[in-house]
Amino acid sequence: MNKKLKVTVVGGGSTWTPGILNAFVRHQERFPISELVLFDNNWERQEVIGKYAEILFKENCPDVKVTYTMDKDVAYKDADFIMVQIRTGGYELREKDEKIPLKYGVVGQETCGPGGFSYGIRSLRDMIEIVEDTRERNSEAWILNYTNPAAIVAYGLTKKFPNDKKILNICDQPINLINSFSKLMNIDPNSIEPRYFGLNHFGWFTHLYDNDGKDVLKELKDLIKSNGFLPADAAERDQSWLDTYALVRDMVLDFDEFVPSTYLQYYFYPEYKASKLNPNYTRANEVMDGREKMIFEECSKAAQQNSTEGIHVVKNEAHGDMIISIAEAIYLNENKYFIVMVENNGIIENLPDDAQVEVTCLLGNRGPIPFNYGKIDTFYKGLLENQYAYEKLTCEAYFEGSYTKALQALTLNRTVNDAKKARKILDDLIEANGSFWPKLK
Ligand code: NAD
Ligand code: G6P
Ligand code: MN
Repeated sequence: MNKKLKVTVVGGGSTWTPGILNAFVRHQERFPISELVLFDNNWERQEVIGKYAEILFKENCPDVKVTYTMDKDVAYKDADFIMVQIRTGGYELREKDEKIPLKYGVVGQETCGPGGFSYGIRSLRDMIEIVEDTRERNSEAWILNYTNPAAIVAYGLTKKFPNDKKILNICDQPINLINSFSKLMNIDPNSIEPRYFGLNHFGWFTHLYDNDGKDVLKELKDLIKSNGFLPADAAERDQSWLDTYALVRDMVLDFDEFVPSTYLQYYFYPEYKASKLNPNYTRANEVMDGREKMIFEECSKAAQQNSTEGIHVVKNEAHGDMIISIAEAIYLNENKYFIVMVENNGIIENLPDDAQVEVTCLLGNRGPIPFNYGKIDTFYKGLLENQYAYEKLTCEAYFEGSYTKALQALTLNRTVNDAKKARKILDDLIEANGSFWPKLK
């Protein structure tokens, strides 16, 4: 490919869009776009972020045509990359996803446990519609999805569109973690070649090779044990993230073999985590009072003064950089290392073929080429089989409209584990989600 690109961001009114826009500007030489479209189904949100996009691009890359719209033809026709980051039901329902389980002493989290289950069923409907709307108009575009819960979305989309090889599901947490590891070890994150296996928000780093081919994982584990663990940009992270990173030390002390994703703590210490979360003020409240408020205030200010001077929309540029780097790796056929989701098909020998595993891949213009992992040991297999079954049953509950499968999924989830609790939570979630969910019978 050596043409100029049209890129569309679906969920153009997302709190993450301004950071992605900044990254487009930083990457404009290597990833030369000629047209940017922001698409959202909420005009109020879209307009504010869209105006920021117009101003930012006028200042930094005036040749790029910037459009913000609710028109699907404008968004999907002729696009080369479609980046999707939507939140069906908004923060209002995220808050309910997190608060309902906490009523029953169960972890309330966006992507893990009943919160992720509830959000997953909502995301599937809209994500399927977005892929259909795209493919009706465009058979070639890469669909790069970040919408959570990415594990459920990846599994459901692959079941629904088994022959579509240009949908890629991605999470930024592996890169965030590599940045944090690098800071702790005082090395360049770009020099690290990681090996990783698991499901999304449910995996482990097994090796971290440095430029000399030396595996520095043991050194990292020792540093985490002695010094603790912080996000790369600790000064700018909210308290709940600092707490989450700190518990990585406990996980490494308990299970010393690999370095886990931060999210595994919800499954290893479900009671402890639930007891530490505030049932009246969850992460959704923290985000609404923090990131969302800040982004919309700053973007509105940019529009009023018709300039981005003095405007700060991003605390952590890693997210935007990763998103553009993924598209860039495909566009430039870079075959760079990324940890992404792919259908298992033997990558992890002793897990089901249709699991959506998250593993190290080389990414170029034919999509991700995964490294085979081989067999995993009993502890990991037990955990992953359980989580896989939960993810599969969640998707089947959605596709079949099955109450029984929904109850089975929630009962299997390690954060719940009790069928009577699962039933109470499920009944509350059905009420809270209303028409965002299919009718479960
Ligand atoms: P947000 O609510 O600020 O943004 C989402 C936007 O999507 C909103 O403007 C909303 O109006 C829009 N939207 C909702 N449904 C839509 C639809 N059907 N079509 C078009 N637009 C629609 O939420 P956010 O916190 O910015 O997060 C956005 C998404 O990105 C979430 O799913 C979040 O979990 C995900 N995320 C993923 C990663 C990752 O690493 N995979 C990282 C950050 C955020
Ligand atoms: C991490 C995860 C994402 C998640 C994001 C923001 O980067 O990998 O999946 O969406 O954090 O979470 P927040 O709670 O800040 O909205
Ligand atoms: Mn993620």
